[in-house]
Amino acid sequence: MSGPVARGGSEPVGRRADAGYRQRYGGPPTGCWAAPGRVNLIGEHTDYNDGFVLPFALPHRTVVAAGPAPAGGPTWTVWSEQSGEEIVIDESDADSPGAVDGWGAYVAGVIWALRQANFAVPAARLAIASDVPLGAGLSSSAALEAAVLTALADLGGIGPDRLPVPDRPVLAQRAENGYVGVPCGIMDQSASIRCQAGHALFLDCRSLEVEQVPFDLATAGLAVEVIDTRAPHRHVSGEYAARRAACEQAAAMLGVPALRDVPADGLPAALDRLPDETMRRRVRHVVTENQRVRDTVALLRAGRVGGIGPLLTASHASMRDDFEITVAEVDTAVAAALTAGAYGARMTGGGFGGCVLALVDAGAAGQVAAAVGEAFADNGFAAPACFTALPATGAERID
Ligand code: GLA
Repeated sequence: MSGPVARGGSEPVGRRADAGYRQRYGGPPTGCWAAPGRVNLIGEHTDYNDGFVLPFALPHRTVVAAGPAPAGGPTWTVWSEQSGEEIVIDESDADSPGAVDGWGAYVAGVIWALRQANFAVPAARLAIASDVPLGAGLSSSAALEAAVLTALADLGGIGPDRLPVPDRPVLAQRAENGYVGVPCGIMDQSASIRCQAGHALFLDCRSLEVEQVPFDLATAGLAVEVIDTRAPHRHVSGEYAARRAACEQAAAMLGVPALRDVPADGLPAALDRLPDETMRRRVRHVVTENQRVRDTVALLRAGRVGGIGPLLTASHASMRDDFEITVAEVDTAVAAALTAGAYGARMTGGGFGGCVLALVDAGAAGQVAAAVGEAFADNGFAAPACFTALPATGAERID
């Protein structure tokens, strides 16, 4: 596998976290906990509309090596291989959203969310390493939150009996919404915590019910090529918040709790009731995207993996034309992948840059990557980074 990796080196990431812990803190950790990044197969900007998503976990993971803090020392000490920094978080930092910033905010946010939910978070020392590409829209933040949450819960004896698995993404999302200040939905944290190897996670973002949908690329002779366009994210947080606000405003105008409640066959009537063209386009994206997720799941349940290609491509067109969250690099990558023979291709993640995924014949991944690279060179874009991804497992203790 080639492609973008976070800084750190060629040692497996679990070993790096473990070695970092020993080096920083002078002894072995109690254990190591890993949580993956994700790609979203389909269902974009549907999660905060109470809709449907279908992500799968990447083999790229963030690992937290953790052990108890010695008495008399700081409550939480956290070292990150990525930044080379060690930070200290005390109770007052953990109880004041925004008190810690940068990568440490995701760690402090998880502690905050656990404490808000009345869990006693054990004093601990953590060492973190990751090979989830950063800033590529592959959920490096959710992987960090999920790994920290899983580690601290285990270390504190907070088992699934007290903090059931379906509640864990909710806490991790709360950390990001309430402490870090990012108004994200529930998809990324759910993917990092609840995905299973070989499956895509069909998540109902209202009920939080999941179905593990077999996503057997190998038997179908197919591969998912992930293309990191390396396009710089432009205005991403402001645009994300604006899309979310527009959707919530549209739902209020339509008199429904969320756009999830507009059925596909009720779309024309709903659009007629909205005052402006931009809002109509936003609603059309969300309603049609929810339907595409359901259609994709139906095909996967029937074992028709190759059949999902047109739905992926239609999703991209909807994000480009109706939700207006793509950029030139992303559109170029999708077009080049399709011309090179991909069955379908779409941007994955929040948008305004990031990654594209393409469904390709297993033997054609290199050819598709080369075609995208040529198209980027022709357009004067920086070279993309490509890798093929098989659905991997969610958060777990690894030793
Ligand atoms: C980001 C957010 C998710 C989701 C996607 C878009 O990844 O964190 O909650 O809204 O964008 O589908």
